Amino acid sequence: MTQILGIETSCDETAAAVVKDGEQVLSNIVASQHELHEEYRGVVPEIASRAHMEKILPVVQSALSHANLTMDQIDAVAVGNRPGLIGSLIVGLSAAKALAWMMQKPLIGIDHVKAHLYAACLDRQEISQPAHKQNYPALGLIVSGGHTSLYEVDSPIELKLLGRTIDDAVGEAFDKAAVILQLGYPGGPEIDRLAQGGNPEAHPFPRSLLQDDSLDFSFSGLKTSLLYTVRGKPRGRGKQTTFDRSADDLSTRQKADLAASFQAAIIDTLIIKIERAIHHLDDQNRHPVSLIIGGGVSANSLLRKHAAEFGGQHNLAVYIPQPSLCIDNAAMIAGLANVYLQAGIYDDLDLPAIATSK
Ligand code: KG4
Ligand code: ZN
Repeated sequence: MTQILGIETSCDETAAAVVKDGEQVLSNIVASQHELHEEYRGVVPEIASRAHMEKILPVVQSALSHANLTMDQIDAVAVGNRPGLIGSLIVGLSAAKALAWMMQKPLIGIDHVKAHLYAACLDRQEISQPAHKQNYPALGLIVSGGHTSLYEVDSPIELKLLGRTIDDAVGEAFDKAAVILQLGYPGGPEIDRLAQGGNPEAHPFPRSLLQDDSLDFSFSGLKTSLLYTVRGKPRGRGKQTTFDRSADDLSTRQKADLAASFQAAIIDTLIIKIERAIHHLDDQNRHPVSLIIGGGVSANSLLRKHAAEFGGQHNLAVYIPQPSLCIDNAAMIAGLANVYLQAGIYDDLDLPAIATSK
């Protein structure tokens, strides 16, 4: 049996969790900083790292006490050390190093993006075997505020990039759309909620697919299309730009239709790219047996519905984390660390924080 403490501070959530045997979440504490960044409609790095410093020790304490454990009952300390905001990563990493050193436990650095895909393996009642023992090769889709990427996944730690966004990440597109519609931050959950009462066919927003065989994504055109639909064509350039209308002129019904149409365009695009990626792998005799989706946007209700339907149509097992494990959390960090612990792969105390993904 293993019990791993995970720490995650890559962006605007201070998180700590304890996971047993890489699967069972014993505690999962997430202190969100959303209210600190709301007025800026985006994460302010300096504010984020200061808030992490204030929260990290109480959050770790809380993760241990919710799991009913003390530090000496922990087998390893895992920490998300890449990618992310460097000042934020350093706070979690320093705490993890101090704990690992003090308790003489192995330290394991985890790639946040890989951890998002692993989140689908946590707390799954419906299957008896751990996901990572039976569901590979898989097609992996990461959809978050910072990433939109497709991977060929041979195991939880072997990911080969197939395609990525060439401009905005999908979560970023949701967040920017929410700004255009004058909704709250983060925008994804707001649009998801508002779209429930809207007509997804009210506005024919573009589905940007790039070249016929491209597995890359592009969402900036869709965002511009929403902006012009809401505010009319711009006059002037840069700071002098003016528009005929603003989101203040929209009724709730109109906003709901715009949210639903925008969301439908995004999710259609994701599903089309998933299908393309499967054809691409089939052509090379590398047929995936499952589809794994992770990252904050995998909490989206329309994506979950369409992905499940897609899996049914294509005889593909679909794994998406439960909603609380889609957004940034430390359980995914602790869970994936078990794979490394079992393989005897640890890090030294000079483990660096790295802003980019591998
Ligand atoms: O994975 P995450 O918590 O942080 C990053 O690693 O980036 O993802 C955050 C993103 C935000 O852009 C947020 O708007 C989006 O996930 N998000 C959603 C939903 N819940 C969170 N997007 C669409 N629908 C949702 N229900
Ligand atoms: Zn994330």
